Amino acid sequence: MAGFGNSTQSVYSTLRELVENSLDACEDAQCIPKIRITIDSLSSDVLSIRVADNGTGLPYQQVPEAFGRVLYGSKYDQKQKRGTFGLGVTMAILYGQITADSPVFIHTQNSSGPGRIYSLLIDVEKNLPIIENEREKSRSKDGTTVAITLRGDLKRAKERVVEYIRLTTIASPHAVIEFGFDGESTEVVGGWSHKVPDAPVSSKPHPRVADLELLRRMMARSPSTKIHDFLVDSFQQVGTRTATRFLKFVGIDPGLRIESLTRADITSLSLSLRRFDGFGPPDSRCLSPIGEEAFLLSVESLFSNSWMQYSKRSPSEWQGHPFFVEGIIAVGNEFPKGDTPTLYRFANRVPLLYDASDDILTKSVKRLNWKHYGISVPMPVALFIHFGSTKVPYRAAGKQSLAHMKEIETDVTGLIRSLGRSLRKFACRKEQSKRDARKMQEFSEMFKIVTKYGPALAEVEPPSSTTHMVRSLFEVNTDV
Ligand SMILES: Nc1ncnc2c1ncn2[C@@H]1O[C@H](COP(=O)(O)OP(=O)(O)O)[C@@H](O)[C@H]1O
Ligand SMILES: [Mg+2]
Repeated sequence: MAGFGNSTQSVYSTLRELVENSLDACEDAQCIPKIRITIDSLSSDVLSIRVADNGTGLPYQQVPEAFGRVLYGSKYDQKQKRGTFGLGVTMAILYGQITADSPVFIHTQNSSGPGRIYSLLIDVEKNLPIIENEREKSRSKDGTTVAITLRGDLKRAKERVVEYIRLTTIASPHAVIEFGFDGESTEVVGGWSHKVPDAPVSSKPHPRVADLELLRRMMARSPSTKIHDFLVDSFQQVGTRTATRFLKFVGIDPGLRIESLTRADITSLSLSLRRFDGFGPPDSRCLSPIGEEAFLLSVESLFSNSWMQYSKRSPSEWQGHPFFVEGIIAVGNEFPKGDTPTLYRFANRVPLLYDASDDILTKSVKRLNWKHYGISVPMPVALFIHFGSTKVPYRAAGKQSLAHMKEIETDVTGLIRSLGRSLRKFACRKEQSKRDARKMQEFSEMFKIVTKYGPALAEVEPPSSTTHMVRSLFEVNTDV
């Protein structure tokens, strides 16, 4: 049960799965997410985590499969989203079932009909849902509430949970999250931006992502199509001319029907789709960066900074998956002082809190010599880095750290360097203005003496104040 290693992490992971789904559902509904989280201790080591949202809701017929079957995912299209192909909430439900012997509770309503409540268990052997209870109950608005009971330690997890919720509002600056523990008064965080971000556009897969498994699944949907037409219809960046050139490259007759392809043909197709260099780069409209304005706004709202700078890289590709990196470097007294910046990691708008040391983002930050970028003495600097892609290369099923991919590493390093250069400029300016202020101070003391004795010698009236003279002479802004 990756990601559920201990009683703190299991609370965080369960909450994360529920909140990810809620935010995805609100994105589909194109609304400002209003999410309510309550975590209550039922005994010293059993607690209930409940997340309610105002997203699309689900057609109730889909509930048992969506929540009671591992690897059920309804989102097969290619676009940046938080969920990762149905390996999410069911893990949390299973964990609850195994550790607290409790079913999951779901109350959902969507545009297709009245609201409905379910309590479900998962039949682990058959990977099928067991419906314990089901009845109609309408909600005031469409949306979903899910409650999972599990073994966990709220006292120890609380700090992490609050950190996760706060950082979630950095990556989704428009989301408003209300949360409360053990019946105490609730707190509201987020809503920094009032604009719903543009929804990423769904696209067909790029040919370079088609491994054998995906290719077989896609082919099974249209067995009588000709291979040439199948390629044009199924993939992005494949027009009729490209398909013809590609099939010539593989040595397969374009008129051949899918059903008459041999296993060897399919294997060779899959390999060649990755090797052929005639496909254009993947479409990046399916990505959803936070963006400069919203990202700066949310970081500024959560942390009081004295200075910050945003930077982004243009979209790129790893093995056919489009991706981008964007980030902010900030200086502020709330950050710990150090020789390297404190790193906040985000992937597809989800904050990552564990396994930082294995992460490619962490390694890229550590690899840089920050002395060259203006951190000559320990400074309170933070880096916020957001990676977004149609597929996030997590190192493990716990989805906590990004794996090492050359293409990603190159872009991440480029981004960090450019943020580092901004920091260096800022540090130099600060240093320069400190020097100027010191010089001005020295000059002003001398000047005071001159303006005291000079007029006496010349037998004229001394000036009433010299401060404005010195300031205008130095043309410096002493507030910096
Ligand atoms: N809060 C929710 N609102 C709407 N749909 C949801 C919600 N939670 C789960 N679902 C549905 O259940 C499916 C399974 O969820 P999950 O196992 O987390 O997979 P994933 O998020 O990777 O698609 C989702 O694809 C979605 O269709
Ligand atoms: Mg999910």
